[in-house]
Amino acid sequence: MSSAVRIIILYYSRNGATQQLADAIANGVSKTGAEPLLRTVACEGDAACQRDLVIDADDLADCAGLIMGSPTRFGHMYSGLQKFWEQTSRDWLKGALVDKPAAVFTSSSSMHGGQESTLLAMGVPLLHHGMVLMGIPYTAPELQQTDAGGSPYGASHVEHAAGANLNHYESKLAEQLGERVARAALKLQA
Ligand SMILES: Cc1cc2nc3c(=O)[nH]c(=O)nc-3n(C[C@H](O)[C@H](O)[C@H](O)COP(=O)(O)O)c2cc1C
Repeated sequence: MSSAVRIIILYYSRNGATQQLADAIANGVSKTGAEPLLRTVACEGDAACQRDLVIDADDLADCAGLIMGSPTRFGHMYSGLQKFWEQTSRDWLKGALVDKPAAVFTSSSSMHGGQESTLLAMGVPLLHHGMVLMGIPYTAPELQQTDAGGSPYGASHVEHAAGANLNHYESKLAEQLGERVARAALKLQA
């Protein structure tokens, strides 16, 4: 294992909204001195794979934590992410992710279009892998102030009329989630 404390931000994004959340989370990770590793799953011409590398089999064993994000797809995660987890039995058997901190994030077009079910569903494979799932505590003032995305179950963005651009609260909450997971990873490694 390399000496850098790496936090994988594994996400898919077709049009860039989930990617903006991934970037805000990466900023939060970087604040702690840990290294954010933006990774995606195989896709063609979409925002995520136009910019970021597809996750490598070795990345899971080598990371100190993992944060997963997907657009809301009928109240669930993007199928390509589910497919990825179905190919991780080897890492599951080895316990590659056991006791490593984790969190989730999503973007949807409408406020009540299934964000929470998507966030909770994304936590399930992470718990199967033995990860320590983290959310956003209500001690974050932005969680009370937001009138769009942001949830105790994870970071989020609601497009409404705003398109892909995060508002102030969504951006702050995503950053805080990245920072929180990275700080936990650093403590666990100490
Ligand atoms: C197949 C499909 C299913 C979707 N299902 C939902 C949904 O259940 N609820 C919702 O609010 N938006 C839904 N959307 C909209 C996306 O979640 C939304 O546009 C998201 O912000 C896109 O993220 P991206 O820019 O990262 O691709 C769906 C989009 C597609 C293509």
